[in-house]
Amino acid sequence: MSKVLHIKASPRGMNSDSTKVAEAFLEAFLKSHRNFGSEELDLFREKLPPFEAPAAAAKYAVLGGSEPKGPDALAWKAVIEVIDRFKSADLLLLSSPMWNFGIPYRLKHYIDLLVQPGLTFTYGPEGYKGLVTGRPAVLILSRGGSYAPGDAMDFQKRYLEAVLGFIGFSDIRSVLIEATLSGADNVQIVAKAVTEARNLAGKI
Ligand SMILES: Cc1cc2nc3c(=O)[nH]c(=O)nc-3n(C[C@H](O)[C@H](O)[C@H](O)COP(=O)(O)O)c2cc1C
Repeated sequence: MSKVLHIKASPRGMNSDSTKVAEAFLEAFLKSHRNFGSEELDLFREKLPPFEAPAAAAKYAVLGGSEPKGPDALAWKAVIEVIDRFKSADLLLLSSPMWNFGIPYRLKHYIDLLVQPGLTFTYGPEGYKGLVTGRPAVLILSRGGSYAPGDAMDFQKRYLEAVLGFIGFSDIRSVLIEATLSGADNVQIVAKAVTEARNLAGKI
């Protein structure tokens, strides 16, 4: 059976705009893709391994062409487990709010674990090459304001597309939930995004 991995980056539970829309996407997607199941990774509930001195030393060892040793090897093993789970997804569904023009810190922590030489990217004389290929990613992104395409302050969508592109994703679709703090009717804003997400689910 194929798998959708839903990575949730809002701590707001069922009050979360991005979670509501992502769950509507998932429900529609699973209905129209009977060979898929789903798994959830809630970044504010699950404990991620730290990425501190031993993991950083391991990363530099691997970049330098050697094997991590001792506590560094242990830290690297924990990183590999996180990456194995990520790579087990046939469709990546990532829902996240914008926080301070970027992403919540737990999602950044997760990305710092994911982007690793030999595991999610390689490099050589021809430059860098992503290793997580052959599967689509769907981003469900909420933000209090509105950001026109290419807005310099949008470090949420641009960053996520860049980093996922770096590790190999070439098919990245987005549903935006915008102006959630504008004073406009929030129920309507979410409902519009839910419709868009359900339509997208039928097209993948
Ligand atoms: C800590 C924090 C920082 C935020 N920073 C921004 C921001 O920089 N720009 C913006 O448009 N909205 C910002 N917001 C608003 C959220 O992006 C918005 O309310 C979003 O709809 C929340 O999504 P969620 O319900 O899925 O968590 C911020 C909210 C929080 C809690």
